[in-house]
Amino acid sequence: MEHKNLKPFPEDFLWGSASAAYQVEGAWDKDGKAPSVWDNFVRIPGKTYKGTNGDVAVDHYHRYQEDVKLMAEQGLRAYRFSVAWSRVIPHGNGAVNEAGLQFYDRLIDELISYGIEPVVTLYHWDIPQGIQDEYGGFLSRRIIQDFTDYAEVLFKRFGDRVKYWVTLNEQNVFITHGYQLEYHPPGISDTKQMYEANHIANLANASAIAKYRELGLDGKIGPSFAYGPSYSIDANPKNVLAALDSEELNAYFWMDVYTFGEYPIAAWNWLVENDLAPTVLPGDTELLKRGRPDFMGVNYYRTMTNAFNPRDGVGAGKMNTTGKKGTTEESGIPGISKHVNNPYLEKTNWDWDIDPTGLRIGLRRITSRYRLPIMITENGLGEYDTLTDTKEVHDEYRIDYIRSHLYAIQEAITDGVEMIGYCTWSFTDLLSWLNGYQKRYGFVYVDRDETDEKELARYKKDSYFWYKKTISENGKNIEQEIKK
Ligand code: BG6
Repeated sequence: MEHKNLKPFPEDFLWGSASAAYQVEGAWDKDGKAPSVWDNFVRIPGKTYKGTNGDVAVDHYHRYQEDVKLMAEQGLRAYRFSVAWSRVIPHGNGAVNEAGLQFYDRLIDELISYGIEPVVTLYHWDIPQGIQDEYGGFLSRRIIQDFTDYAEVLFKRFGDRVKYWVTLNEQNVFITHGYQLEYHPPGISDTKQMYEANHIANLANASAIAKYRELGLDGKIGPSFAYGPSYSIDANPKNVLAALDSEELNAYFWMDVYTFGEYPIAAWNWLVENDLAPTVLPGDTELLKRGRPDFMGVNYYRTMTNAFNPRDGVGAGKMNTTGKKGTTEESGIPGISKHVNNPYLEKTNWDWDIDPTGLRIGLRRITSRYRLPIMITENGLGEYDTLTDTKEVHDEYRIDYIRSHLYAIQEAITDGVEMIGYCTWSFTDLLSWLNGYQKRYGFVYVDRDETDEKELARYKKDSYFWYKKTISENGKNIEQEIKK
């Protein structure tokens, strides 16, 4: 629908930005931190672009004060970051590392001293290697208690100052990439195990939320879901059905469980028919239902366009992790759908469709189905940036991307979507898990590359100043600039 007038962004809208521990902190073995699965996985030849790792990353662990000062100068109202589990409980269960907790104490206090709201992610993919080795991580139900205990340590320590919590970051990504596609640790390719691990992750998520409720803390909690809304390539009913199947199996399959504690019917029946359904024990559904979140965290980058894919059709295909446009291979789920090119959309150099309207569509779908407030916990553009001789970065492409997505959010707010805030990905440049350091997302350029850490100096990009202006005007400039 085209509105006559757009509603303004709410006065208390959280204008934020985000990061994740492994991608920014570095200090991978400092002050009592033990290795996570990522610390080891990146050392397997061929797993990451040019063998990059997060040993140093952008050294946020030592430079957090400089980074927070840059956030404050920009006027940022919220900063989403994750806690490295193996910094706080090195083995994953058992002894707590006070030095690890103190780092996050300092970071949270620093943010609050500038009036920046901390948004804390409990888990952004870096399970301690200790419990991965001890019992297989998410393949064992033991992780439900261990994750809940870890969450409880954080809730009790930081709950007086942290009012927004994110439980699992992109469960759909770390489960599919870790247990089916082999892109992420533990590097398993077994669809049956993937659904088992996913069900256990669902229980861990719900159990952490139930613990938060039990503690009676004053704040809000929810997961971050990587939502790529499904389109049909055309009006051929076979393709429309494929898009529906894709939406059900790739999106509702997670968000329904978070919200209703139940799997969507057709997707569940399909898993049963194909002998892929996970083991559901007595009491599981009851626990899942106790995990209803306060908000849906949404990481939005793109939509997915679908066509019919027969049972003997295409399966997993290689991703573009090099930044050479057009190198993504066709992929799909046989019997469900396959991803095809959308001729209406521009693409990034990593072949991700750029689709602000898709964000509005996704927000609307969530609102209609779940009636939950939404926080955009990630949105941004990964691209090559050039640092000029005068240490500037003219990233108008990133400004265009963020502006158009914020406009879509404003339209969605006018539609009736309840929005808590918007965190760009990312504040500083950081390690892109599989794509090295050349795929940049930040408002702040960090001068390092795959092979040379250099001085890790920080430089403000043009987008930094544009977002600063946007925050100071509470987004009033968005509509004006779009309509200019
Ligand atoms: C999300 C993750 O999947 O997308 C981030 O939560 C990640 O950690 C971001 O960096 C962008 O993905 P990529 O692969 O371009 O780094």
